[in-house]
Amino acid sequence: RTVYVNGDWVPEEAATISVFDRGFLMADGVYEVVTVLEGKLVDFAGHCRRLHRSLSELDIASPHTEEEWLQLQRDLVHRNRLREGLVYLQVTRGAEDRDFAWSEGLTPGVVMFTQARSLVDNPLVERGLDIITIDDLRWQRRDIKTVQLLYSSMGKMMAKRAGAHDAWMVEDGLVTEGTSNNAYIIAGRRLITRQAGHAILQGITRTAVLALAAETGLELEERPFTVAEAQAADEAFVTSATTFVMPVVTVDGVKIGDGQPGPMARKLREHYLQQAR
Ligand code: PDD
Repeated sequence: RTVYVNGDWVPEEAATISVFDRGFLMADGVYEVVTVLEGKLVDFAGHCRRLHRSLSELDIASPHTEEEWLQLQRDLVHRNRLREGLVYLQVTRGAEDRDFAWSEGLTPGVVMFTQARSLVDNPLVERGLDIITIDDLRWQRRDIKTVQLLYSSMGKMMAKRAGAHDAWMVEDGLVTEGTSNNAYIIAGRRLITRQAGHAILQGITRTAVLALAAETGLELEERPFTVAEAQAADEAFVTSATTFVMPVVTVDGVKIGDGQPGPMARKLREHYLQQAR
């Protein structure tokens, strides 16, 4: 693969970054994952807007304009002949001697790479996900897409070791989101998902899926829900750029509905994929 590192296109084996990069030392950086379907970037504008917002919340100047990011990502997809998979983009504050305080005006570090992956034909769609719940021990600004992903990774491992697929995080008795996705339940005709705010990442897929709720015959209720409410729901699912709409069939071992992927979740996935392609 060809990767992009601070202005250069290099074979992945030859790519280097500084050991003093604050992304590496302090998790001082942000990222985006943009899906590629049939060689095209999905919802690039939304991801780019969120990237710029994350950077601005951390007081890092964006090293590129939206138009430049688009050209760079297209170039990367083209160089790697990527048809289906993802583009990973990371911007860190920059490199200097390790210190908690940083110098103003460092040159941001930029890394981009692709990962080829079959995303549309995912066998988990037919099976549905088993979810465990864990305390949400992350910091209080989950709306910023930082590379500080240790607790989310630990949560995913806790799920795997428990024989499940993923974990939903719970704060004050209410579900915030999944380790790397937004969480939803459907009760009757109501689609319930936590409102945007500092407690969750405002998913780009979430925005797209919520816009499709009405045409799928669902009424939107943006509010947090409890684990018990999820367990009593008719359906549940998660969304992210790489999984689109993915049904959830158990939460802490309790079956959702009949324990099969729900019809509304499937319909939302279809509608989402139609407009994404
Ligand atoms: N994760 N919530 C969290 C904590 C996430 O990490 C993600 C995305 C989402 C969904 O956001 P979007 O729909 O914009 O992908 C919600 C990406 C895919 C990742 O870290 O790989």
